[in-house]
Amino acid sequence: MVTLLENPLRVGLRQERTPEPLIIVIFGASGDLTQRKLVPALYQLKRDNRLPPEITIVGVARRDWSHDYFREKMREGIEEFSEGLGNEEVWLDFAEGLFYFSGNMDTPECYQELKAFLEELDERRGTMGNRVFYLAVSPNFFPPGLKNLGAAGMIREPRKTRVVIEKPFGRDLSSAQSLNKIVQQVSKEEQVYRIDHYLGKETVQNLLVFRFANAIFEPLWNRQYVDHVQITVGENVGVEDRAGYYETAGALRDMVQNHLLQLFCLTAMEAPNALNADSIRNEKVKVLQATRLADTQNLELAAVRGQYKAGWMKGKPVIGYREEAGVNPNSTTPTYVALKLVIDNWRWQGVPFYLRTGKRLPKKVTEIAIQFREVPLLIFESAAQQTNPNVLTLRIQPNEGISLRFEAKMPGTELRSRTVDMDFSYGSAFGMTTAEAYNRLLLDCMLGDQTLFTRADEVEEAWRVVTPVLNAWEERSDPSLMPLYEAGTWEPLEAELLLNRDGRQWRRL
Ligand code: BG6
Repeated sequence: MVTLLENPLRVGLRQERTPEPLIIVIFGASGDLTQRKLVPALYQLKRDNRLPPEITIVGVARRDWSHDYFREKMREGIEEFSEGLGNEEVWLDFAEGLFYFSGNMDTPECYQELKAFLEELDERRGTMGNRVFYLAVSPNFFPPGLKNLGAAGMIREPRKTRVVIEKPFGRDLSSAQSLNKIVQQVSKEEQVYRIDHYLGKETVQNLLVFRFANAIFEPLWNRQYVDHVQITVGENVGVEDRAGYYETAGALRDMVQNHLLQLFCLTAMEAPNALNADSIRNEKVKVLQATRLADTQNLELAAVRGQYKAGWMKGKPVIGYREEAGVNPNSTTPTYVALKLVIDNWRWQGVPFYLRTGKRLPKKVTEIAIQFREVPLLIFESAAQQTNPNVLTLRIQPNEGISLRFEAKMPGTELRSRTVDMDFSYGSAFGMTTAEAYNRLLLDCMLGDQTLFTRADEVEEAWRVVTPVLNAWEERSDPSLMPLYEAGTWEPLEAELLLNRDGRQWRRL
């Protein structure tokens, strides 16, 4: 018999450990990501006693800030974008380990100076040469930044140094391959943490637990029982103030190549042999290798793009994408993408996976819906007895949870059925909100656990899936060819047709 202590699922899927003393060097320290996500996440970890007392954070950017000014900005970020400072003593302790280094990261000299500064901090703070270099900067900085770090000998020791690379990792297959080459020239794969914050979400990690810690779902998880899968990542926000980046990216690069394909992999992959980084990543790579667009000859039968035009959100008028500040009035950047993917393997042959994402959709919602096949024979004859197929919905955010839709007999003397839901909600089951993705990811990186980070081959395979679509859309650069959808509505007509042609419909959420 397995006792509570012996059972790994009952005692937690991994032991709680505290990282070794280390310095986190954040390049791009004056940017939004640092202030809104990274430092608040580190602070939360500090409050939860998950960090060593020696933890030291060095923000690096061009601006001429002092240590105190940096501390002040980070304090504002923690107060505004997280659960707050809590105990002032915790803040004072944390702030003592916060430093700022101003420099032009394009020049090799700057790295020599930074190196000397970090060595000095090692002495003062007891961080023993352990480093995490976090590239929270624009992607054009990745190649020179990595080369300079390498040339300065700052990432030479794989056991002591790690590099975190934010997305987007490349802009298509060939640029991702070139970037991986640079990464491989200056470091070892075991030091590299390519971040996709979706993997840090509790509900995304729960996909593995749901599938592989329960016996009853996996036997149904295949072409014999599943009709199709819909993965939706809807956002109600528009481009906000990120036009400069978004105009060069668009929804396919910004959301599909990374977040949606990760959700897709975790839904479709085979069971890994063990809960470790390489076993899980091997299975994800295998799924991606077997994945292709449903129609490679007629791309429009497998991929649809769209762009929001003016419309209404929550009763208020909003402008269209082409009117947003910093956006080209003739822009052909897609703010919406729908794909139909198929997987050529024994489990999924013939089961389409429909993926969609967009900005300015009616609501913020991320979910994976597994729609099962119809019953083989309907014994309830009258038209009024029509039944709906079962749907298992994994609600990634918000209102995190899982529900199963099935038919139930309505009370009464007649034999009539109605569709009902069996529902699990994280909030009520665990009585707590789910943690911020960056908390978990930063902690894992400091602990040296790469499970929730993407490997070189995985990133490249994901680009391989979407690059034909990117190329085709780049050729179709006439703005009048861009399908438009009104802000506050679900999708362009073309995306509805993608499913209607198969006799299916998008879920109305
Ligand atoms: C980011 C994208 O990676 O994810 C943004 O660059 C997007 O455009 C964001 O808004 C969505 O993340 P979340 O966690 O709010 O679903």
